[in-house]
Amino acid sequence: MAPVLEADRLRALIPSEPWNRVDIVDEVGSTNAVLMADPQPWRVLVADHQTSGRGRLERSWQAPAGLGISMSVTLPLPQEPVRWGWVPLLVGLATRRAIARITGLSAGLKWPNDLLLTIGDGQQRKVGGILCEVAPGGDPTVVAGIGLNVWQTNDQLPTEAATSLSLNGSTADREDIVAAVLEELVAIEGVWGDPVRDDDYRAACVTLGQRVKVQVSHDRSSGGRAVDIDEHGRLVVDDGEQRVPHSVGDIIHVRPDAASIRPQDRSAFVDRMEQRLMGSPRTLRRADVAELAGSRPGLPQELWRAMGFANARDEDIVFNRRDVEAVRGIERIIDRGLVDAETAVRLARAVGRSTDRMEMWMLQLVSDMMTAEQDLEVDTTTAFDVAERLIAIADEMTPLIDYVSRRNLANAISRMVADAEPESHVGVVRTVGFADLVSFTSLVRTTSERDLAELVTSFETTVSDVVAQAGGAVVKTVGDEVLFTHRSIAGGIRIAFDLLEAVARTPKLPRLRIGVATGRVLARQGDVYGHTVNRASRLTSTAAPGEILVDGDVAREALTVPDADVFDVGLVHLPGVGDVQASAISRSPRSDSQEDA
Ligand code: BTN
Repeated sequence: MAPVLEADRLRALIPSEPWNRVDIVDEVGSTNAVLMADPQPWRVLVADHQTSGRGRLERSWQAPAGLGISMSVTLPLPQEPVRWGWVPLLVGLATRRAIARITGLSAGLKWPNDLLLTIGDGQQRKVGGILCEVAPGGDPTVVAGIGLNVWQTNDQLPTEAATSLSLNGSTADREDIVAAVLEELVAIEGVWGDPVRDDDYRAACVTLGQRVKVQVSHDRSSGGRAVDIDEHGRLVVDDGEQRVPHSVGDIIHVRPDAASIRPQDRSAFVDRMEQRLMGSPRTLRRADVAELAGSRPGLPQELWRAMGFANARDEDIVFNRRDVEAVRGIERIIDRGLVDAETAVRLARAVGRSTDRMEMWMLQLVSDMMTAEQDLEVDTTTAFDVAERLIAIADEMTPLIDYVSRRNLANAISRMVADAEPESHVGVVRTVGFADLVSFTSLVRTTSERDLAELVTSFETTVSDVVAQAGGAVVKTVGDEVLFTHRSIAGGIRIAFDLLEAVARTPKLPRLRIGVATGRVLARQGDVYGHTVNRASRLTSTAAPGEILVDGDVAREALTVPDADVFDVGLVHLPGVGDVQASAISRSPRSDSQEDA
């Protein structure tokens, strides 16, 4: 149990000179925010808990109640504005000195002012952070906020990259640490116009000498060796050609270069990530899962294989309680007679396949958002960051995934009921369309990977929007091609028109050609098959860029659609399908002007 923060004891430890106002509170939004609203110099505010603690660059600072130090002080800024850039660095130095004095721990300073401790395996983790803000109005004053992890266990820390003083052997009370920080701040403030102290910072700065990657904006980074901190407190990076100074405000991230990450760090990282996602480490063998789930012996193995996971051997310890719960769930639906064992395994396969695609997709989106390189190469540090981000959003995504899956099931049920017919036919009637980006193959040869990825994403987004808006369904998109269906011919025609127009409006996308046919289709495993699908596909390959080719039934219906023009193309020979009466349709220009009127 972490000792409570004793306000009276802490107050007694803080001298009234120079600290002329000391507030110690149980809870506050952000200690920095409070002092920024009333920045009288030499104020102290300590909170046992912050409900909306702030970090640098609009990030948040999180610590559970009663476990950390959250404090802010107001200090006069140095006379010389040129020294202001050094203020946050020196606040970091003062905090490092206080920690060393009270706990014996030696915290490194990651430029500008993260406090790091080196844990057992040589890795550095963040134990504290500093947020300095220049207060508005009056004499130049800074609000310096200091957050330290003191009593947190690993489970109580917000990220993998964090640690606490107690996890590193400290038993020091928070009151003593706060008092020491304040003493060191007074000492450093007395000399913070004096560049001599800067060398103490440089000596404690773990960033200097490291190969670093400096993330300047979400899509721009540069790399090199951190060689100095200049007179403005800027980090000077030697990129091999020149020494480039970077100021605090311009930088999102300074990280060790990927080359400095050891292979064993990568596998340890992957193990930790899996543990966080799966809730506990791997402790069980296949037989243990079967026993704990009360299932027949072969089922866990069969399910694993069906879901597309590597096959585990008898002796492999690769499972945990989540696997037990999953097997139990499947076993229950078999026991209750809701599905037979074979179908249960097929259901698992359906879930495995679709979620694999979904997760890869989500990973790609987050990675695209976070990568700075033009060539889409993801180095190890970026991969670590992307992984952290994905895990941070995973819990929030779970309810969304459950929701979307239920909505999709409701829609699928509704389609099935609507399609049910008294007489038994094979398949259901659908209008099927293929839309194909013209000259995509040559585009692939001449476009950078990043542009290509953007292009494909933009195509998929446009298609999903258009098809959903018209009440249709996207069966699949394969790079440059989309297969969609609609329950009505008019709906299929509308999708074809809207797609053509939307793609023409979207920058960088080449033109589309589209084929539409209607008739019975066989729907299996989320895909559609049969003659109608083949006809639509062949019509597409025959269509000219910007053209929509349709079969006879679609053309007849198009004649009744007010905004459609229909041109008979005559008999067209479609390879593998035969001769088809084809027509080209287009949205009549008249309808646009009517809509405008
Ligand atoms: C960072 O690492 O990004 C800076 C974290 C600073 C956190 C402290 S806690 C006390 C003060 N009040 C805040 O809202 N933030 C700072």
